[in-house]
Amino acid sequence: MNKGSAYMHWAKTSSQARFNLATSGLANLSLRALRVSLDDLEITGEDGYGYEPLKQALATRYRVNTDSIVTAAGTSFANHLAMAALVNPGDEVLIEHPAYEPLLALARYLGADVKRFSRRFEDGFQLSPVEIERKVSPRTRLIVITNLHNPSGTVADEKTLQQVRQIASAANARVLVDEVYIETLFADSPSTSFHLGKEFVVTSSLTKAFGLSGLRCGWIFAEPELVRRMWLLNDIFAATPVHPGERLSVLALQQIEGIARRAHTLLDENRRLLNQFLDSRSDLETIRPQFGTIMFPRLKNGGADRLCELLREKYETSVVPGGFFEMPAHFRVGIGGDSESLNAGLDRLGDALDEIKS
Ligand SMILES: Cc1ncc(COP(=O)(O)O)c(C=O)c1O
Repeated sequence: MNKGSAYMHWAKTSSQARFNLATSGLANLSLRALRVSLDDLEITGEDGYGYEPLKQALATRYRVNTDSIVTAAGTSFANHLAMAALVNPGDEVLIEHPAYEPLLALARYLGADVKRFSRRFEDGFQLSPVEIERKVSPRTRLIVITNLHNPSGTVADEKTLQQVRQIASAANARVLVDEVYIETLFADSPSTSFHLGKEFVVTSSLTKAFGLSGLRCGWIFAEPELVRRMWLLNDIFAATPVHPGERLSVLALQQIEGIARRAHTLLDENRRLLNQFLDSRSDLETIRPQFGTIMFPRLKNGGADRLCELLREKYETSVVPGGFFEMPAHFRVGIGGDSESLNAGLDRLGDALDEIKS
């Protein structure tokens, strides 16, 4: 697909199932769970370049100056704005493999010359500075990674990110880090690679760890000069943000500790359930991440397409086919839903795996 994302289209039209293990975020939080009154809301705001109280709330949480923040409709639009500001047609963009497909689709849509570097299953999908160094060229303008990694959930440590920064610096390139899953570390002081150096441009949102996708509360952290360029670019995209969304996002950030507690408890229990399931399977190989909402098991024998089809058709259960991540022997399981559904879905996954074997 030249102007679109095959994965996003599939996720919107074909991933639903009675037992949906294809989602990558936490179960949606309902509006009723937020303390909000009508007086807190307004339809139209005055800040064309981002609602000040929202930028302030993000600045405080992530220890970033407000002039280093662009707000955007979700990480999706943050990625678009960031890449559009950083990449010109023909520029070389180096993207991890396997990758979240919309990032690839976006770079191609912007006319980038897309090159890849591997994150190997055999290495636990860790970022390899050696591999990045091997693939970077004097034409590379941008290196794109996700942290935590989608689809594997692997976390990159600070030392590795510093090595990536040095490679980017030597090539006069930037590093776009999509950190949409990083809040699932539930750290007291949430981390962001933005603090590691000016090469880093970071995108994220309240979507994955908190079940707040519908707020579309996304952001970019970048150097002030880049931020100014992104806001000016936004004048020809969204022009002004959705103000009720900005207001609700501020309220959500004020209540984020309680929201995070609910998420953390749910994910701990669900990770236990998934690990228990994986312990019982000799037909799957998996890197088991400590954090996040997703895992990316591999079938020992053969591709996962037939498994995904059978699961949907006979067992009313969905997972994401690894083909969307260019690794068809794998499938992605999401653990952000309620524990009962996850358990039922895993039972069915087990049945489908047994059926395929026999
Ligand atoms: C790596 C990555 N980036 C961005 C997104 C989209 O996030 P948002 O809902 O904030 O637009 C997703 C959702 O699956 C994702 O996995």
